[in-house]
This record gives sequence, C-alpha cells and structure tokens, in this order.
Amino acid sequence: MKTIKFGIIGGGLMGREFASAAARWCHLADMDVRPEIVAVCDANPEIIPWYTENFSSITQVTSDYKELLANPEVDAVYIAVPHNLHADFFCEAISAGKHLMGEKPFGIDQAANDKIMNCIAKHPDVLVRCSSESLFFPAMQRIGKMIEQDAFGRIIEVNSGFLHCSDMDMNKPINWKRKLAFNGEYGCMGDLGMHACHMPFRAGWVPQDVRAVLSNIVPERPDGQGGMASCETWDNATLLCSATDADGQSFPMTIKTQRIAPGNTNTWYLEILGTKGSARWSSKQINTLEIMEYNGNEQAWQVIDMGHQMAHKSITGGIFEAGFSDSILQMWAAFLYELEHGHPISRFAGCVTPLEAALSHRLFTAALKSQREKSVVEV
Ligand SMILES: NC(=O)c1ccc[n+]([C@@H]2O[C@H](COP(=O)([O-])OP(=O)(O)OC[C@H]3O[C@@H](n4cnc5c(N)ncnc54)[C@H](O)[C@@H]3O)[C@@H](O)[C@H]2O)c1
Repeated sequence: MKTIKFGIIGGGLMGREFASAAARWCHLADMDVRPEIVAVCDANPEIIPWYTENFSSITQVTSDYKELLANPEVDAVYIAVPHNLHADFFCEAISAGKHLMGEKPFGIDQAANDKIMNCIAKHPDVLVRCSSESLFFPAMQRIGKMIEQDAFGRIIEVNSGFLHCSDMDMNKPINWKRKLAFNGEYGCMGDLGMHACHMPFRAGWVPQDVRAVLSNIVPERPDGQGGMASCETWDNATLLCSATDADGQSFPMTIKTQRIAPGNTNTWYLEILGTKGSARWSSKQINTLEIMEYNGNEQAWQVIDMGHQMAHKSITGGIFEAGFSDSILQMWAAFLYELEHGHPISRFAGCVTPLEAALSHRLFTAALKSQREKSVVEV
C-alpha cells in the first residue's frame, strides 16, 4: 500500500479528528493508499503531547508552519486553523508543492478566497480540496445515487441546513469562532455553510440570487476573565435562494446555518422535493432515510434503515449505523483515493472542490449584502 506522509497544521478539534482517522485506516477495506502523520504544527504547545504520545510516526514538531512546509518528508498537509490564517497558510502550502486539504470556509472572506484560487491556478499539479464530511453519510450517498438516476424528476424545492445549539448557553465564554478578526464577517455561514452547500452544489444546483436574514442573537459573551466581550459575528443565517438545475430550471432553495437552534446539538438535514420523487434526511435520525416515489398513484413515504452503506468499503458490518467519525474517515479516504487515482471513486464521494468553495464565497458575500440592503442580491 502506498503511503502519503502528512503534516497537520492546526492540531485542535479537527486536527485530532484527522489524526484519529489515520490511526484507524485499517477500518477501510479496499484502499491502496494510506496517510501517515509525520509532522505536526500548532502555536499552542499544550496541543502537541496528544500527538506525540499517540503517533510514533511523528518526527517533526513545531510551532512554525513555515518549518513544517520546508520539510521535504511531508507530501501533503491538512490545515485546520482559524479562518484569518487560511489564505496565507494555504497559499504557502500550495506554493511549497504540498497537496492540501484545507478547512472551510477556505478563506476568511471573498478576497482571501480569490487569493487562494489564484494560487491554485498557478499550481495545477497540487491536489487541493476543502474539508466537508457532510456528503459521506450513507443517506447522503444514497441521495447522490438518486440524483444520478434522475429519481427526483424536475426539482420543486430543496432545503439544506446545518444547525447547532452550543451557543444557547449564554454563559459560554467567547472563543475565536465568535470574533470578527478570526472568524470573519460571514459568522455562522463561514463556520457551517460549506456543509449545507456541499450536496446542492455537487448536484449542480446553483444559487442565482439570495435574500438573506442574518441574526446576532447574543451580542455579548463572558470573556473568560470575569468581564464581558462583544460577540460580533452572525449567530444564525437563513438564505432563500433562487437556484437552477443543470437544465436551467429554476426552483427555491433554502440554506440554513444556525448556532442557536433550540434542540439541535449538531443537526445536518437535507430535503429534496421533486415531481417524480422526494427524499428527506436529518442526522438527528442518522440511520433513517425517507423517500417517496410518485407515479400518479398514492403518495406514501418509505422509511429506509441505511446501515453502513459507505462510499469506500469498510470492515463494519452492513447492518450497523454510521456516525460523525465514520464520515470523517470516508472524507479522508476520498481525498487520498483522488490523490492516488486522479478522480473520486464516484461523483458524490468527492471532497469539496475549490470551485465549489469559491461558489460558497459568492453566495455568502451576496448574503451579507442582502442583509445590509434588505434586498435580493445576485450571486
Ligand atoms: N469539517 C468540520 O466539520 C469542522 C468542524 C469544526 C471546525 N472546522 C474548521 O476547522 C478549522 C479549525 O477549527 P477547529 O474547530 O479545529 O479549531 P481549534 O481552535 O480547535 O483548532 C485550531 C488550532 O489552530 C492553532 N493555531 C492557531 N494559530 C496558529 C498558528 N499561527 N500556527 C499554528 N497553529 C495555530 C490553535 O492553537 C488551535 O489548536 C476552521 O477552519 C474551522 O472552520 C471544521
């Protein structure tokens, strides 16, 4: 099996998820390529011991990402740092010839994303993808197959979203994700939006315009030192888009991203209503996909238990349900498969492309304008 040597830049929440996925690569049944974590970089020294205690393969530890990028042993990097650092870190990694999985939103704003896109254009030999695991849940994979089989007919409406309620606790101290300088003006759209866009964009459903309603529900939070700090970013966003499908037919599409969604710890959902068929899924009931076929007779929803139907075969028995860390493992399998084979194993088992990330920037930038002007804005 071929080994790709990885460096991780930003070893926090998501850096650890990747390292853990690499550690259980044997869970995947048919892979001919695997990652090995050889280097880790984090500005916070307290992050490092978890890595060095769990990964004997690590030979470089540094707080300076430039040092990691200069390491000739490193073939590819995963960069999971605050959004204000994306453009510089991503561009330097790409320019150093390292294959890159970069975290969303892939630049703190439109200008940062433009810079990343320009750099990618100059380095066509480097594989660059944006992280989002939402497509890799079994129900989403099945919906992808339904789209390929034209099971929906003409699209009537699409509703996609990603809802959190971690910020319902008003006493939760502020962190970088609630500050403009680190998270950016997009707020919850930058944090959560790519996940909600991944499937619609891969399906070829392109937002043409948007009317956005954005809310800052908790404008102040404890600063963690006994005082209060302004919480400047948008907590919740509801985007009503006019979208088109591949045939140019228009339909309404909503993209909702919320950090203050009562009762939703971490809920992905997707609903597609079409003239021939419909489907709906929510990660609240992760194993349950509802579909409805319409052939002129009675309309009845069917409920399907998905089990472990993954894009990349795994050793888990087919009856067992999948979870968040399974979809992370699948996303990494997709990245390495594409690196090795030059294409994803299937259309709906591919990581977010830079073009899809760039489209999300156009949408979120238009949404900010729509909020400011209280108007419909072209994407
Ligand atoms: N795909 C997903 O489901 C998902 C989930 C959460 C976050 N994210 C994304 O991942 C990225 C990181 O988020 P997170 O939740 O892991 O954050 P985090 O705060 O847990 O981790 C970020 C890490 O970056 C380090 N860091 C900050 N500045 C640095 C520097 N100059 N050099 C090196 N390291 C530095 C921090 O010390 C921290 O350990 C963001 O882009 C975020 O949007 C993705």
